[in-house]
Amino acid sequence: MLVTSRSAAEYRAMFDLAAGDLVGPVLDCCAGGSSFAAETGGWVVAVDPAYALGPGDLAERVREGLDEGDRMIARNADRFEWGWYGDPGGRAAMRRSAGERFLADLRERAGRYVAGALPDLPLATGGVEVALCSHLLFTWAELGEEWHRRALAELVRVARREVRVFPVVAQATGEPVAFLDRLRAELEAGGHRTELRQVPYRFQRGGDRMLWIRVGHGGSG
Ligand SMILES: C[S@@+](CC[C@H](N)C(=O)[O-])C[C@H]1O[C@@H](n2cnc3c(N)ncnc32)[C@H](O)[C@@H]1O
Repeated sequence: MLVTSRSAAEYRAMFDLAAGDLVGPVLDCCAGGSSFAAETGGWVVAVDPAYALGPGDLAERVREGLDEGDRMIARNADRFEWGWYGDPGGRAAMRRSAGERFLADLRERAGRYVAGALPDLPLATGGVEVALCSHLLFTWAELGEEWHRRALAELVRVARREVRVFPVVAQATGEPVAFLDRLRAELEAGGHRTELRQVPYRFQRGGDRMLWIRVGHGGSG
C-alpha cells in the first residue's frame, strides 16, 4: 500500500470540514504522508503503521508514494475527473508540497506522529472528538468485511463525537463496497447514527461520498 500525501485542502473537501467540525483533539488515521496535521494545528494526532519506520526510510516511502501515485494516475486516467484539481500537474504539485510539509513537521514535532494500526489503536476510549480516515477503509475493500467491522468499531471507540471515512468505494474498481450497508446497519443497531454524505471533493469517478458516523453513547450523548 502506498504512503500518500494529501494536503489539508484535500482533507477539508473530502470530509466536507467546516471550522466548527474541528473543535477538540482530532485523529487522522491512516495519516501516511499527509500534511493535514502539519497544516491544521497542535490538536491533530496522526497515526499510521509507517511511522514505525525510521525518519530516513519514511521519507523514502513518502517520496516513492508521490512518484508511484503520479504513475498510477497516468495509467488509469479514465478513472478520474479533474474538476477539483484542474489538471494532473496541479494535483502533483499539491501532493509534493504536502509530502515535504509532512516531512518537515515530522522533524520538528515528531510527538504528534504515532505508530499504530487499525483495528487496535494506541489511543484512549473517547480520546479524540473526531476521527478522520482517508483512503484505507473501503478503498482497500480486500481487507475484508470482518477487518472493516473491527476497524469501524475501533474508530467509534476512540472518537467521542464523530467518525468520517472517505471514500466509500474500492480503489481498484470504483464500485460501492458490498458490505458497507451491512456495517452501517450494525452501527445503527449499536446506537450510532450513520449517513452517506456527498462531499465537495471530486477525483475518483463515483467516489464523492463519505461515511459520516455520529457516535452514540447509550442515550447520554
Ligand atoms: C493511501 S495512504 C492514505 C494516507 C493519507 N490518509 C492520505 O490520504 O494521503 C494509506 C495509508 O494507510 C496506512 N495503513 C496501512 N495499514 C493500516 C492499518 N491497518 N491501520 C492504519 N493505517 C494503515 C499505510 O501505511 C498508508 O500510509
